[in-house]
Amino acid sequence: MPRVKDHKLAEKGGLKIEWAKAHMPVLSSIAERFSSEKPLKDVRVSACLHVTKETAVLALTLKEGGAEVCLSASNPLSTQDDVAAALVDEGIDVYAWRGMSKNDYYRAIESNLSCNPQITMDDGGDITVMAHEKRYASNILGGTEETTTGVIRIRSLADEGALRYPLIAVNNAETKWNFDNVYGTGQSTIDGILRATNIMIAGKWFVVAGYGHVGRGIAMRARGMGAKVIVTEVDPIKALLAAMDGYIVMPMKKAAEIGDIFVTATGDKDIIKAEHISLMKEGTILANAGHFDVEVSVNDLELMALSSRQIRENVKEYLLPNGRRVYLLGEGRLVNLVAAEGHPSEVMDMSFSNQALAVEYLVKEGKNLPPKVLPVPRDIDEKVARLKLKSMGIEIDNLAPEQERYLSSWRG
Ligand code: NAD
Ligand code: ADE
Repeated sequence: MPRVKDHKLAEKGGLKIEWAKAHMPVLSSIAERFSSEKPLKDVRVSACLHVTKETAVLALTLKEGGAEVCLSASNPLSTQDDVAAALVDEGIDVYAWRGMSKNDYYRAIESNLSCNPQITMDDGGDITVMAHEKRYASNILGGTEETTTGVIRIRSLADEGALRYPLIAVNNAETKWNFDNVYGTGQSTIDGILRATNIMIAGKWFVVAGYGHVGRGIAMRARGMGAKVIVTEVDPIKALLAAMDGYIVMPMKKAAEIGDIFVTATGDKDIIKAEHISLMKEGTILANAGHFDVEVSVNDLELMALSSRQIRENVKEYLLPNGRRVYLLGEGRLVNLVAAEGHPSEVMDMSFSNQALAVEYLVKEGKNLPPKVLPVPRDIDEKVARLKLKSMGIEIDNLAPEQERYLSSWRG
């Protein structure tokens, strides 16, 4: 099995990594400390992450700390081949190329696990699940999970009593979920739609399915570009929030007739399916920002369509029996990582600093932790926030001792 697409791309990938590192000051400061302290000496880490320039900076940070790092992709279409090639030169064991088949994708994760890791790092739950199914779990000290869908999957494994090692929910750290999912996906999803289509957003009806962290960010940025934004939800509280944030809220069946651009961001399946697609206007654009390619039913599109063709890179046109055409971006996979470069380095700086510090914590404490889904320790979350503020030149106030006493007392 090939490991990366083309080794000749390594030089270009190296420059991209250099660019990302320059925009990731917090992770770079952790790399500097790791380089002198070597807290991960001889620790084998198997990471299953989107292979991007930002992930490269994380992998190299772990290596600075003394770890041996194996890396496979967390999506068959999100790998940046030049970055993957450059990482091989840096001594990272990479198994990833853009456009790999589903079969190769799972084989790559298995090759990754054959590094016999003590730590797993995951984005979506695939390597954690495979480590359990293929009996690698007994040697693993702990793992981390990067995204909402992965945390939900591994919680369900834990609820069945089947989780074998502690798993830190990096996604749920405040310095991750409130920034990466909201501002990162907000910006990079719009970036993906624009790179794929170059359409005008101003004046369009823009439908966002799901008003959680990701949906909120996308809705905010679409509105900022002049779109008229509609939100669909199943959670009454989130729907109320969207309404009071000024969006129009309605069921997908109604939105289907109005929208020009649809983006799903729910982590759920079958958000847009045949019954919606048949109502859509000529030229409707469909995209997904959720982890798996189950939110827009590609199967329904393929079954309904009289014909289809790739009209632009990352844009597939489907001709429907009613004579209308709809356009699916990036095969219904995460549009920000398939059609653009994923989140900006500045926001991944926080997510991946949490990852690096969570790995350090697991190496120190993993043996004493229960096989449960655990939060990122609060001091790590706050440390990342403080370092990020410092890197941005922002100072904040400190509580005076009197204020601390006041805030912790019932006396008033
Ligand atoms: P979240 O839990 O904060 O929000 C999900 C929202 O979707 C919730 O409000 C929920 O009520 C709503 N929802 C669920 N089913 C729905 C349905 N049938 N119709 C309408 N709304 C529905 O989760 P999140 O952090 O926003 O993550 C959403 C998805 O995005 C996950 O799959 C996550 O892994 C993924 N994600 C992707 C990226 C990326 O780079 N593209 C980044 C972060 C997270
Ligand atoms: N998820 C979203 N954006 C990403 C990026 N730039 N690198 C790795 N994972 C990501």
